[in-house]
Amino acid sequence: MAIQSDERKLSIYRDADVAARYDERWAGASGQRRDERTRRAIERALARLGPVESLLDVPCGAGRFSAWLSQRTPRYLGADAALAMLAQTRGKCAAPLVAADLAALPLRTRGFDVALCIRLMHLVRDAERRTAFLRELARVSRRAVVVDYVQSESLKVWYARARAGLGLRDHAPSALSREQIRAEFERAGLELLAFEPLRSPGWLSDKVVVLARPAG
Ligand SMILES: C[S@@+](CC[C@H](N)C(=O)[O-])C[C@H]1O[C@@H](n2cnc3c(N)ncnc32)[C@H](O)[C@@H]1O
Repeated sequence: MAIQSDERKLSIYRDADVAARYDERWAGASGQRRDERTRRAIERALARLGPVESLLDVPCGAGRFSAWLSQRTPRYLGADAALAMLAQTRGKCAAPLVAADLAALPLRTRGFDVALCIRLMHLVRDAERRTAFLRELARVSRRAVVVDYVQSESLKVWYARARAGLGLRDHAPSALSREQIRAEFERAGLELLAFEPLRSPGWLSDKVVVLARPAG
């Protein structure tokens, strides 16, 4: 199977059928456990900040965390580039939503305490594009950004890379080391504060939630 372009991976969610089926990945016992681990890692990152008054959730997707976050935060805004995904979110909660591209958010600078970005960066192989997304998250946040990544220091990625090396799979997964993540954040004007792995010890999970604050 050929590596899909970033554009293709980011735009499939505009399809109404893809959006309607998105939540299926969190159905079933294992999906629910993965979902819950991510939620807990986000909660640990947010708890480090104390009370959070306003939060931008971009991309909010099909509203995976919208009901929870809009109850947790006095001012919540969900944003996504795909109208089909926003329609799914609308079916779950009454929180304000906006159609917006993370590359150029129609939102004011430092308008939110926290900008949250979950399950997007691993879809983007182009480092410049990831950094542009991070810069925009940094611009709209006053206190912190919370972003998840696929980390290379994990059993799953070591195994997948070994298989790719032996020709047993077509391509190695797109994963970054913690040092690469830190450098990417610095380029975007963000100071890294904490890694919140989804499991303990951290190498048991390929996902990590990163907390950072606008530098300076
Ligand atoms: C894998 S989903 C993740 C959604 C949600 N955060 C979650 O955890 O389920 C990726 C989402 O990114 C959105 N997306 C892709 N490119 C975007 C962009 N440039 N700006 C905003 N959203 C984008 C897609 O429409 C899709 O809803």
